[in-house]
Amino acid sequence: MPTTDTVRAIEWRVDHLALLDQRLLPDEERWLRLTTVQEVAAAIRDMVVRGAPAIGITAAFGVVLAAHQHYAQTPGRWRDTIQDDLGLLLDARPTAVNLRWSVERMTGLLTDISTDPTQILLAEAQRIHAEDIAANLHMGELGSRLIAPGSGVLTHCNAGSLATGGYGTALGVIRSAWSEQCIDRVYADETRPWLQGSRLTAWELLRDGIPVQLVVEGAASALMAGGHIDWVIVGADRIAANGDIANKVGTCNLAIIARHFGVRTMVVAPLSTIDMACPSGKDIPIEMRAADEVLGFAGRSVAAQGATAWNPVFDITPAALVDVIVTERGVIQDPVKEKLIKLMR
Ligand code: MRU
Repeated sequence: MPTTDTVRAIEWRVDHLALLDQRLLPDEERWLRLTTVQEVAAAIRDMVVRGAPAIGITAAFGVVLAAHQHYAQTPGRWRDTIQDDLGLLLDARPTAVNLRWSVERMTGLLTDISTDPTQILLAEAQRIHAEDIAANLHMGELGSRLIAPGSGVLTHCNAGSLATGGYGTALGVIRSAWSEQCIDRVYADETRPWLQGSRLTAWELLRDGIPVQLVVEGAASALMAGGHIDWVIVGADRIAANGDIANKVGTCNLAIIARHFGVRTMVVAPLSTIDMACPSGKDIPIEMRAADEVLGFAGRSVAAQGATAWNPVFDITPAALVDVIVTERGVIQDPVKEKLIKLMR
Protein backbone atom coordinates (compact mmCIF):
# COMPACT_ATOMS: atom_id res chain seq x y z
CA MET A 1 0.00 0.00 0.00
CA PRO A 2 1.54 3.36 -0.97
CA THR A 3 2.37 5.69 1.94
CA THR A 4 0.23 8.43 0.38
CA ASP A 5 -2.93 6.49 1.25
CA THR A 6 -4.17 7.05 4.79
CA VAL A 7 -7.68 8.44 4.38
CA ARG A 8 -10.91 6.42 4.59
CA ALA A 9 -14.42 7.83 5.03
CA ILE A 10 -16.73 4.78 4.89
CA GLU A 11 -16.55 1.92 7.42
CA TRP A 12 -18.86 -0.94 8.29
CA ARG A 13 -18.60 -1.44 12.06
CA VAL A 14 -20.19 -4.69 13.30
CA ASP A 15 -23.84 -3.67 12.97
CA HIS A 16 -23.84 -0.15 11.53
CA LEU A 17 -22.38 2.08 8.86
CA ALA A 18 -19.94 4.77 9.98
CA LEU A 19 -19.44 7.79 7.74
CA LEU A 20 -16.95 10.60 8.16
CA ASP A 21 -19.13 13.72 7.94
CA GLN A 22 -17.61 15.52 4.96
CA ARG A 23 -19.66 18.65 5.59
CA LEU A 24 -17.54 19.41 8.65
CA LEU A 25 -14.09 18.89 7.16
CA PRO A 26 -11.46 20.20 7.49
CA ASP A 27 -12.41 21.76 10.84
CA GLU A 28 -13.76 18.67 12.51
CA GLU A 29 -13.44 14.91 11.98
CA ARG A 30 -16.76 13.55 13.19
CA TRP A 31 -17.99 10.05 12.37
CA LEU A 32 -21.74 9.48 12.12
CA ARG A 33 -23.38 6.19 13.09
CA LEU A 34 -26.07 5.08 10.63
CA THR A 35 -28.39 2.21 11.48
CA THR A 36 -31.30 2.65 9.03
CA VAL A 37 -31.67 2.95 5.28
CA GLN A 38 -33.51 6.23 5.80
CA GLU A 39 -30.43 7.65 7.50
CA VAL A 40 -28.25 6.39 4.66
CA ALA A 41 -30.44 8.03 1.99
CA ALA A 42 -30.43 11.29 3.95
CA ALA A 43 -26.63 11.16 4.32
CA ILE A 44 -26.26 10.85 0.54
CA ARG A 45 -28.80 13.60 -0.19
CA ASP A 46 -27.36 15.99 2.41
CA MET A 47 -23.70 15.54 1.36
CA VAL A 48 -22.41 13.79 4.49
CA VAL A 49 -20.92 11.47 1.87
CA ARG A 50 -20.42 12.59 -1.73
CA GLY A 51 -18.47 11.62 -4.81
CA ALA A 52 -19.85 9.06 -7.24
CA PRO A 53 -18.14 5.82 -6.09
CA ALA A 54 -18.53 6.73 -2.40
CA ILE A 55 -22.25 7.28 -2.94
CA GLY A 56 -22.50 3.86 -4.61
CA ILE A 57 -20.65 2.07 -1.81
CA THR A 58 -22.71 3.84 0.84
CA ALA A 59 -25.93 2.85 -0.94
CA ALA A 60 -24.79 -0.79 -0.98
CA PHE A 61 -24.52 -0.70 2.81
CA GLY A 62 -27.91 1.05 2.82
CA VAL A 63 -29.38 -2.02 1.07
CA VAL A 64 -27.88 -4.20 3.82
CA LEU A 65 -29.56 -2.12 6.53
CA ALA A 66 -32.86 -2.08 4.63
CA ALA A 67 -32.87 -5.86 4.15
CA HIS A 68 -31.99 -6.40 7.80
CA GLN A 69 -34.86 -4.14 8.91
CA HIS A 70 -37.45 -5.63 6.56
CA TYR A 71 -36.49 -9.24 7.23
CA ALA A 72 -36.82 -8.61 10.98
CA GLN A 73 -40.23 -6.97 10.55
CA THR A 74 -41.80 -9.14 7.82
CA PRO A 75 -39.68 -12.29 7.27
CA GLY A 76 -42.18 -13.76 4.79
CA ARG A 77 -42.55 -10.63 2.63
CA TRP A 78 -39.32 -8.67 3.05
CA ARG A 79 -38.56 -8.69 -0.71
CA ASP A 80 -41.79 -6.77 -1.32
CA THR A 81 -41.69 -4.46 1.65
CA ILE A 82 -38.09 -3.39 0.92
CA GLN A 83 -38.99 -1.88 -2.47
CA ASP A 84 -39.92 1.63 -1.24
CA ASP A 85 -36.66 1.90 0.66
CA LEU A 86 -34.68 0.89 -2.41
CA GLY A 87 -36.48 3.70 -4.25
CA LEU A 88 -35.50 6.07 -1.46
CA LEU A 89 -31.84 5.21 -2.01
CA LEU A 90 -32.09 5.46 -5.81
CA ASP A 91 -33.68 8.91 -5.57
CA ALA A 92 -31.12 10.33 -3.14
CA ARG A 93 -29.01 11.95 -5.90
CA PRO A 94 -29.63 11.68 -9.64
CA THR A 95 -26.37 12.17 -11.54
CA ALA A 96 -23.83 9.65 -10.20
CA VAL A 97 -24.72 6.39 -11.93
CA ASN A 98 -22.66 4.43 -9.40
CA LEU A 99 -25.66 4.72 -7.07
CA ARG A 100 -27.96 2.82 -9.45
CA TRP A 101 -25.15 0.43 -10.42
CA SER A 102 -24.53 -0.64 -6.83
CA VAL A 103 -28.20 -0.86 -5.79
CA GLU A 104 -28.87 -3.04 -8.86
CA ARG A 105 -25.86 -5.23 -8.09
CA MET A 106 -27.12 -5.71 -4.54
CA THR A 107 -30.76 -6.33 -5.49
CA GLY A 108 -29.65 -8.82 -8.15
CA LEU A 109 -28.88 -11.15 -5.24
CA LEU A 110 -32.26 -10.88 -3.54
CA THR A 111 -34.18 -13.56 -5.46
CA ASP A 112 -31.74 -16.32 -4.52
CA ILE A 113 -31.74 -15.63 -0.78
CA SER A 114 -34.08 -17.82 1.24
CA THR A 115 -32.96 -17.04 4.80
CA ASP A 116 -31.86 -13.90 6.69
CA PRO A 117 -30.28 -11.79 3.90
CA THR A 118 -28.05 -9.65 6.11
CA GLN A 119 -24.75 -11.57 5.95
CA ILE A 120 -24.94 -12.35 2.23
CA LEU A 121 -25.69 -8.73 1.37
CA LEU A 122 -23.06 -7.43 3.77
CA ALA A 123 -20.43 -9.60 2.10
CA GLU A 124 -21.45 -8.19 -1.30
CA ALA A 125 -21.33 -4.57 -0.07
CA GLN A 126 -17.88 -5.19 1.38
CA ARG A 127 -16.82 -6.69 -1.97
CA ILE A 128 -18.06 -3.58 -3.79
CA HIS A 129 -16.05 -1.46 -1.37
CA ALA A 130 -12.87 -3.53 -1.71
CA GLU A 131 -13.15 -3.74 -5.51
CA ASP A 132 -13.44 0.04 -5.70
CA ILE A 133 -10.20 0.52 -3.75
CA ALA A 134 -8.44 -2.07 -5.93
CA ALA A 135 -9.72 -0.34 -9.09
CA ASN A 136 -8.43 3.00 -7.83
CA LEU A 137 -4.98 1.61 -7.06
CA HIS A 138 -4.80 0.14 -10.55
CA MET A 139 -6.07 3.32 -12.22
CA GLY A 140 -3.48 5.23 -10.21
CA GLU A 141 -0.78 3.12 -11.81
CA LEU A 142 -2.22 3.38 -15.33
CA GLY A 143 -2.80 7.12 -15.13
CA SER A 144 0.54 7.97 -13.60
CA ARG A 145 2.34 6.29 -16.51
CA LEU A 146 0.95 9.06 -18.74
CA ILE A 147 2.49 11.82 -16.67
CA ALA A 148 6.01 12.94 -17.55
CA PRO A 149 8.47 13.83 -14.76
CA GLY A 150 8.31 17.49 -13.74
CA SER A 151 4.62 17.89 -14.54
CA GLY A 152 2.09 20.21 -12.95
CA VAL A 153 -1.53 19.12 -12.57
CA LEU A 154 -4.85 20.79 -11.78
CA THR A 155 -7.77 18.92 -10.27
CA HIS A 156 -11.35 20.00 -9.66
CA CYS A 157 -13.79 19.17 -6.86
CA ASN A 158 -12.76 16.13 -4.82
CA ALA A 159 -12.20 12.82 -6.58
CA GLY A 160 -10.09 11.36 -3.81
CA SER A 161 -10.26 8.88 -0.96
CA LEU A 162 -13.21 10.82 0.41
CA ALA A 163 -15.14 10.47 -2.84
CA THR A 164 -14.49 6.73 -3.25
CA GLY A 165 -13.87 3.60 -1.22
CA GLY A 166 -10.31 4.86 -0.78
CA TYR A 167 -7.25 6.18 -2.67
CA GLY A 168 -9.40 8.06 -5.17
CA THR A 169 -9.77 8.26 -8.93
CA ALA A 170 -8.23 11.58 -10.05
CA LEU A 171 -6.43 11.89 -6.70
CA GLY A 172 -5.41 8.23 -7.00
CA VAL A 173 -3.52 9.10 -10.16
CA ILE A 174 -2.07 12.16 -8.45
CA ARG A 175 -1.08 10.06 -5.41
CA SER A 176 0.63 7.46 -7.62
CA ALA A 177 2.33 10.03 -9.85
CA TRP A 178 3.51 11.93 -6.78
CA SER A 179 4.96 8.74 -5.29
CA GLU A 180 6.71 8.08 -8.62
CA GLN A 181 8.09 11.64 -8.49
CA CYS A 182 6.44 12.57 -11.78
CA ILE A 183 4.47 15.51 -10.38
CA ASP A 184 6.12 18.70 -9.14
CA ARG A 185 3.05 20.87 -8.65
CA VAL A 186 -0.56 20.07 -7.65
CA TYR A 187 -3.21 22.76 -7.99
CA ALA A 188 -6.81 22.36 -6.82
CA ASP A 189 -9.82 24.49 -7.71
CA GLU A 190 -11.59 25.66 -4.59
CA THR A 191 -14.88 24.41 -6.17
CA ARG A 192 -17.71 26.70 -5.20
CA PRO A 193 -20.17 26.44 -3.59
CA TRP A 194 -19.37 23.37 -1.46
CA LEU A 195 -15.60 23.94 -1.59
CA GLN A 196 -14.79 20.29 -2.19
CA GLY A 197 -11.41 21.47 -3.50
CA SER A 198 -10.27 23.72 -0.69
CA ARG A 199 -11.91 21.75 2.13
CA LEU A 200 -11.61 18.13 1.02
CA THR A 201 -8.97 17.73 -1.70
CA ALA A 202 -6.53 19.98 0.14
CA TRP A 203 -7.22 18.19 3.45
CA GLU A 204 -6.65 14.69 2.16
CA LEU A 205 -3.61 15.53 0.02
CA LEU A 206 -1.91 17.42 2.83
CA ARG A 207 -2.71 14.62 5.25
CA ASP A 208 -0.83 12.29 2.89
CA GLY A 209 2.11 14.66 2.57
CA ILE A 210 1.31 15.98 -0.92
CA PRO A 211 1.59 19.77 -1.12
CA VAL A 212 -1.27 21.54 -2.89
CA GLN A 213 -1.91 25.08 -4.05
CA LEU A 214 -5.49 26.29 -4.19
CA VAL A 215 -6.79 28.47 -6.98
CA VAL A 216 -10.17 30.09 -7.55
CA GLU A 217 -11.95 28.64 -10.58
CA GLY A 218 -11.39 31.87 -12.49
CA ALA A 219 -7.60 31.41 -12.28
CA ALA A 220 -7.58 28.39 -14.61
CA SER A 221 -6.75 30.36 -17.79
CA ALA A 222 -3.95 32.26 -16.11
CA LEU A 223 -2.55 29.01 -14.71
CA MET A 224 -2.57 27.29 -18.07
CA ALA A 225 -1.38 30.34 -20.04
CA GLY A 226 1.55 30.59 -17.63
CA GLY A 227 2.63 27.02 -18.44
CA HIS A 228 2.18 25.84 -14.85
CA ILE A 229 0.24 22.69 -15.64
CA ASP A 230 0.41 19.83 -18.11
CA TRP A 231 -2.72 17.92 -17.14
CA VAL A 232 -6.20 18.64 -15.86
CA ILE A 233 -7.11 15.45 -13.93
CA VAL A 234 -10.71 14.93 -12.83
CA GLY A 235 -13.17 12.21 -11.87
CA ALA A 236 -16.64 11.63 -13.27
CA ASP A 237 -20.17 11.08 -12.01
CA ARG A 238 -21.30 9.39 -15.19
CA ILE A 239 -19.72 8.66 -18.55
CA ALA A 240 -22.15 8.29 -21.44
CA ALA A 241 -21.73 5.67 -24.19
CA ASN A 242 -20.22 8.26 -26.54
CA GLY A 243 -17.61 9.32 -23.97
CA ASP A 244 -19.30 12.54 -22.79
CA ILE A 245 -18.51 13.16 -19.14
CA ALA A 246 -20.74 14.42 -16.32
CA ASN A 247 -18.64 15.82 -13.50
CA LYS A 248 -18.66 18.69 -11.00
CA VAL A 249 -19.86 21.91 -12.63
CA GLY A 250 -16.83 23.76 -13.97
CA THR A 251 -15.18 20.66 -15.40
CA CYS A 252 -16.27 21.58 -18.94
CA ASN A 253 -14.82 25.09 -18.49
CA LEU A 254 -11.47 23.53 -17.59
CA ALA A 255 -11.52 21.17 -20.57
CA ILE A 256 -12.27 24.04 -22.96
CA ILE A 257 -9.50 26.21 -21.55
CA ALA A 258 -7.12 23.26 -21.48
CA ARG A 259 -7.68 22.52 -25.16
CA HIS A 260 -7.02 26.18 -25.99
CA PHE A 261 -3.69 26.21 -24.16
CA GLY A 262 -2.52 22.73 -25.22
CA VAL A 263 -3.00 21.23 -21.74
CA ARG A 264 -4.38 17.67 -21.71
CA THR A 265 -7.49 16.50 -19.89
CA MET A 266 -7.57 13.13 -18.12
CA VAL A 267 -10.79 11.66 -16.70
CA VAL A 268 -10.30 8.87 -14.19
CA ALA A 269 -13.31 6.69 -13.37
CA PRO A 270 -14.12 3.05 -12.62
CA LEU A 271 -16.32 0.97 -14.93
CA SER A 272 -19.20 1.47 -12.47
CA THR A 273 -19.30 5.11 -13.63
CA ILE A 274 -19.79 4.21 -17.30
CA ASP A 275 -23.44 4.11 -18.37
CA MET A 276 -23.76 2.47 -21.77
CA ALA A 277 -27.54 2.88 -21.53
CA CYS A 278 -27.02 6.64 -21.74
CA PRO A 279 -26.26 7.45 -25.38
CA SER A 280 -24.76 10.91 -24.80
CA GLY A 281 -24.27 13.64 -22.23
CA LYS A 282 -27.65 15.13 -23.18
CA ASP A 283 -29.29 12.06 -21.61
CA ILE A 284 -27.55 12.42 -18.22
CA PRO A 285 -29.79 13.94 -15.54
CA ILE A 286 -28.08 16.93 -13.99
CA GLU A 287 -28.79 17.54 -10.33
CA MET A 288 -30.04 21.00 -9.44
CA ARG A 289 -29.52 22.05 -5.83
CA ALA A 290 -30.96 24.85 -3.72
CA ALA A 291 -30.19 28.47 -4.62
CA ASP A 292 -29.19 29.04 -0.97
CA GLU A 293 -25.95 27.12 -1.59
CA VAL A 294 -24.85 29.92 -3.94
CA LEU A 295 -26.48 32.85 -2.19
CA GLY A 296 -25.02 32.03 1.21
CA PHE A 297 -21.84 30.75 2.71
CA ALA A 298 -21.19 29.14 6.11
CA GLY A 299 -24.67 29.98 7.27
CA ARG A 300 -24.70 33.64 6.24
CA SER A 301 -25.90 35.45 3.15
CA VAL A 302 -23.18 36.63 0.76
CA ALA A 303 -25.44 37.87 -2.05
CA ALA A 304 -27.36 41.08 -2.53
CA GLN A 305 -30.82 40.89 -1.03
CA GLY A 306 -33.26 39.84 -3.76
CA ALA A 307 -30.70 38.10 -6.01
CA THR A 308 -31.66 34.62 -7.14
CA ALA A 309 -29.32 31.82 -8.23
CA TRP A 310 -29.14 28.98 -10.74
CA ASN A 311 -27.31 26.02 -9.20
CA PRO A 312 -26.63 23.03 -11.44
CA VAL A 313 -24.02 20.95 -9.64
CA PHE A 314 -22.64 19.03 -12.62
CA ASP A 315 -21.89 19.85 -16.23
CA ILE A 316 -21.23 17.82 -19.36
CA THR A 317 -17.81 17.82 -20.97
CA PRO A 318 -18.09 16.66 -24.59
CA ALA A 319 -15.96 13.61 -25.34
CA ALA A 320 -14.08 15.60 -27.98
CA LEU A 321 -12.52 17.70 -25.21
CA VAL A 322 -11.29 14.68 -23.26
CA ASP A 323 -7.82 13.38 -24.14
CA VAL A 324 -7.84 10.26 -22.00
CA ILE A 325 -10.26 8.21 -19.93
CA VAL A 326 -8.52 5.96 -17.40
CA THR A 327 -10.47 2.95 -16.08
CA GLU A 328 -9.35 -0.13 -14.17
CA ARG A 329 -9.70 -2.09 -17.42
CA GLY A 330 -7.43 0.18 -19.41
CA VAL A 331 -6.89 3.61 -20.90
CA ILE A 332 -8.91 5.08 -23.76
CA GLN A 333 -7.22 7.86 -25.74
CA ASP A 334 -9.56 10.27 -27.58
CA PRO A 335 -12.77 8.56 -26.42
CA VAL A 336 -15.51 7.74 -28.91
CA LYS A 337 -18.42 5.31 -28.73
CA GLU A 338 -16.67 2.43 -30.52
CA LYS A 339 -13.79 2.50 -28.02
CA LEU A 340 -16.18 2.49 -25.07
CA ILE A 341 -18.16 -0.42 -26.52
CA LYS A 342 -14.92 -2.37 -26.91
CA LEU A 343 -13.84 -1.55 -23.36
CA MET A 344 -17.16 -2.61 -21.86
CA ARG A 345 -17.50 -5.82 -23.88
O1 MRU B 1 -21.37 16.97 -5.59
P1 MRU B 1 -20.26 16.00 -5.33
O2 MRU B 1 -19.27 16.46 -4.32
O3 MRU B 1 -20.80 14.61 -5.05
O4 MRU B 1 -19.50 15.91 -6.71
C1 MRU B 1 -18.43 15.01 -6.83
C2 MRU B 1 -17.74 15.07 -8.14
O5 MRU B 1 -18.14 15.79 -9.03
C3 MRU B 1 -16.59 14.14 -8.33
O6 MRU B 1 -15.65 14.71 -9.19
C4 MRU B 1 -17.08 12.82 -8.94
O7 MRU B 1 -18.12 12.30 -8.20
C5 MRU B 1 -16.01 11.83 -9.07
S1 MRU B 1 -15.51 11.22 -7.49
C6 MRU B 1 -14.33 10.04 -7.71
